[in-house]
Amino acid sequence: MELLQDIEEIIISDEQLQEKVVELGAQITKDYQGREPVLVCVLKGAMMFLTDLSRHIKLPVSFDFMEVSSYHGTETTGVVRITKDLKGTIEGKDVIIVEDILDSGLTLTYITKLLKTRNPNSLKICSLLDKKDARITPVTLDYKGFDIPDKFVVGYGLDYNELYRNLNFIGALKSSVYKGDE
Ligand code: IMP
Ligand code: MG
Repeated sequence: MELLQDIEEIIISDEQLQEKVVELGAQITKDYQGREPVLVCVLKGAMMFLTDLSRHIKLPVSFDFMEVSSYHGTETTGVVRITKDLKGTIEGKDVIIVEDILDSGLTLTYITKLLKTRNPNSLKICSLLDKKDARITPVTLDYKGFDIPDKFVVGYGLDYNELYRNLNFIGALKSSVYKGDE
């Protein structure tokens, strides 16, 4: 199977991604001086972003992971559920949720609400991508990588039915790949 032939166009290149993690890492380093933030990675989509971003945060950070699911194929099911919860406690901690993409907003609204009940000292959201036109629930991002058009994208951690995560760029998937699956 040839991965690249399923890509319609490159939306964000490897170089642009690498530039952005440097920029966001520097901003977070500045904002969290003297603190030890917990980076909460939303699996699996945000894993590449977390590992690249964290290498540019010059602070003592810890990682924790949570997995939620709402998607099947290219359509949100509208129902968010936790499939893996955090390992550690976040009470009194400075938490930064690291997410791959903000789309309808349902996932981040759900996660934010849930984590707030655990009384962190602060809770912020860092999302690599923002698909503004697809919003159903409003969500405010504290850190954002890129605004993107309302297209289904894959690569750099993002998948279509678990594939394409290992591409080093973000690309729009050809609709022929998922048509008949909707
Ligand atoms: P939301 O709940 O609709 O905001 O969706 C957020 C989640 O849906 C993200 O964490 C992704 O896992 C997934 N998602 C949304 N749009 C895309 C896309 O274009 N490609 C791949 N995954 C996506
Ligand atoms: Mg995700």
